[in-house]
Amino acid sequence: ITNGLGMTPPMGWNSWNHFHCDINEKMIKATADGLVSSGLAKLGYVYVNIDDCWAEKTRDCKGNLRPKKSTFPSGIKAVADYVHSKGLKLGIYSDAGYYTCSKTQPGSLGYEEQDAQTFASWDIDYLKYDNCFNDGSRPTVRYPVMTRALMKTGRPIYISLCEWGDLHPAEWGFNVGNSWRTTNDISDTWESMISKADENEVYAHLARPGGWNDPDMLEVGNGGMTENEYVVHFSLWAISKSPLLLGFDVANATATRAVAHIVGNEEVIRINQDPLGVQAKKVRMMGSREIWAGPISGYRFVVMLLNRADTGDEDTVTAYWDDVGIPAKSLVEVRDVWEHKTLGRAVAGNISATMPPRSCKLYILKPVG
Ligand code: GLA
Repeated sequence: ITNGLGMTPPMGWNSWNHFHCDINEKMIKATADGLVSSGLAKLGYVYVNIDDCWAEKTRDCKGNLRPKKSTFPSGIKAVADYVHSKGLKLGIYSDAGYYTCSKTQPGSLGYEEQDAQTFASWDIDYLKYDNCFNDGSRPTVRYPVMTRALMKTGRPIYISLCEWGDLHPAEWGFNVGNSWRTTNDISDTWESMISKADENEVYAHLARPGGWNDPDMLEVGNGGMTENEYVVHFSLWAISKSPLLLGFDVANATATRAVAHIVGNEEVIRINQDPLGVQAKKVRMMGSREIWAGPISGYRFVVMLLNRADTGDEDTVTAYWDDVGIPAKSLVEVRDVWEHKTLGRAVAGNISATMPPRSCKLYILKPVG
């Protein structure tokens, strides 16, 4: 939507993947501290997003949502003030139905205006809007009501649609939100992660500045995948112009140090945040060998060589310049953004890499001369 937000994919953190309902104001503030002290905030991770389970089960006598007394005793506005004082932004979560997905708090259906006003009065910067326990009407009927209500508040609030891809939100999401889920929930396994990337890829042509496909939040750092698998995960999310919402315990400095070389890779982040805003696509598939590619600014191209075999020997994957959209005879400068190395001399024709199962190479190609 054209609310001036999400001109590049949003970056930050969300409580759900690691903590589920086990959240409170102390750990939200500690997460904000962690983003700053680790240097991740400086790299662009600025949204601190509270997911489900922050509210009391019932509204107050005036119909207002109430932060849960036992876990958010100071209220959400106080958390927002704290997060803002660190130069970060605060996100919150609601649902276009009668309850949120955890069923522990009311949804916003029928209360859109009131809840939007509440969120704006708390200085919220981002709303994730889920789809559970709705009245059976189409999301294209229910979602715009909240969008209008948020726009009416006058506060710029990033709108994240969480409709899980059921009614092809990529096709209508741009009128309603800044990003839309194209998949159901990710889990911390290779199979889940790679299938979300595949499902999301189908809609690549519909992503653009102000409206992004969302294959769900990052699992990097949660322990369920290997190092190589997390590198593939982060690479795919970056080139897919997906929101980069960290899902591990950022308040834990040891956990953060362990994955800083992945989620803190500035070259990979820059691909995600490239002003052109074009989502990479699969341009060639040969069994378990795939080439994903797309343009970035400055007549450059990002190309990923992926060996998605589950087991077996190392395999060689080759991308030809015309797979990527570069004239076949061009000389190309090749930058390996995981190795942080530019190949010694310009390359003609193609680039190859040999790699183990479930791993990738990620290059920026720049035609020269
Ligand atoms: C749904 C969403 C998740 C999370 C949970 C919270 O499953 O898809 O991302 O927000 O609800 O209950």
